[in-house]
Amino acid sequence: MPVATQASLKGLTPEQLEETSCRLCLNNTYHLGLKPGQEVLDAIGGAHKLQGWKHNILTDSGGFQMVSLLKLATITEEGVRFLSPHDGSPMLLTPEHSMSLQNSIGSDIMMQLDDVIVTTSPDKERMKEAMLRSVRWLDRCIAAHKKPETQNLFCIIQGGLDLELRQECCKEMVARDTPGIAIGGLSGGEAKADFCRVVETCTAMLPELKPRYVMGIGYPEDLVVSVALGADMFDCVWPTRTARFGNAITKQGVLNIRNAKFGDDFGPIEEGCGCECCREGGLGITRAYIHHNTSKETVAAHLLTIHNVWYQLNLMREVRDAILEDRFPAYIRGFFHGLYPNKS
Ligand code: GUN
Ligand code: ZN
Repeated sequence: MPVATQASLKGLTPEQLEETSCRLCLNNTYHLGLKPGQEVLDAIGGAHKLQGWKHNILTDSGGFQMVSLLKLATITEEGVRFLSPHDGSPMLLTPEHSMSLQNSIGSDIMMQLDDVIVTTSPDKERMKEAMLRSVRWLDRCIAAHKKPETQNLFCIIQGGLDLELRQECCKEMVARDTPGIAIGGLSGGEAKADFCRVVETCTAMLPELKPRYVMGIGYPEDLVVSVALGADMFDCVWPTRTARFGNAITKQGVLNIRNAKFGDDFGPIEEGCGCECCREGGLGITRAYIHHNTSKETVAAHLLTIHNVWYQLNLMREVRDAILEDRFPAYIRGFFHGLYPNKS
């Protein structure tokens, strides 16, 4: 899922986002709750109407954004307390309030409010408290949810890098029988081996037929590896953010098109890519054009955003096809060979 934090994918019209083949994008409850606010959301009839988006929306619950953005957020059993970035006034986001906002947003998938601790924190007791509190907050979210027939509430597994805590959390969360399950608390700079152990431990305990969503994950290598470990869904700001720094994601790795060598490169962003910029009969965008526009004009950022979002969605499509056609191991080998041709 590409991340449209403020109800827009920076630089793209909803029509352009649709053209990337995106059918599910992410919005943030915290940001939309502040602006345009619940009254406007109710008046217009939700976030689909607000952004002219006829496909699906997933909303994150808001707590994670406050904790990661505002160092001043404090967490109690009641909820997450923070100072409004607009006027500095004290605010409280409770599980009930997050659900009410997400009901007003009308997202197709809504996330529970969770207590998130960075995985690299050494405080075991706090980690356990956060995990148990996330379970209690799920119960409060389920009780407060007004539209369970049309909006799917996902739980979020917490527990840091402690595999026993993760297992205990999986057991509790699975028993609540939500339509989908997320694995949270990763993407915090933990070692890859630790990340893999946590994902593998959780997916082993999750029901086969419910979507498993690893939150905040987005490098192509991490997506492919996480699928191999049993995960299905991901979101990350990286593909769109890195586009704004002039970076194109390709099968050979990330290319910075600001590099002088692209100034007279009249090929597409990526040969063989099916995005609107690169494909035969498409927009006819060249690397030279992107290079020429990366310094002052925003058009290069928009075009690279289109390419990068398409790249990621196409990667997941290829992965899905490879699994369905029973050739996923060969696909993974080919994928890593493309990135690291000199390693066997
Ligand atoms: N985004 C990335 N990680 C997390 C997490 O653990 N919880 C929530 N709510 N959002 C996230
Ligand atoms: Zn492309």
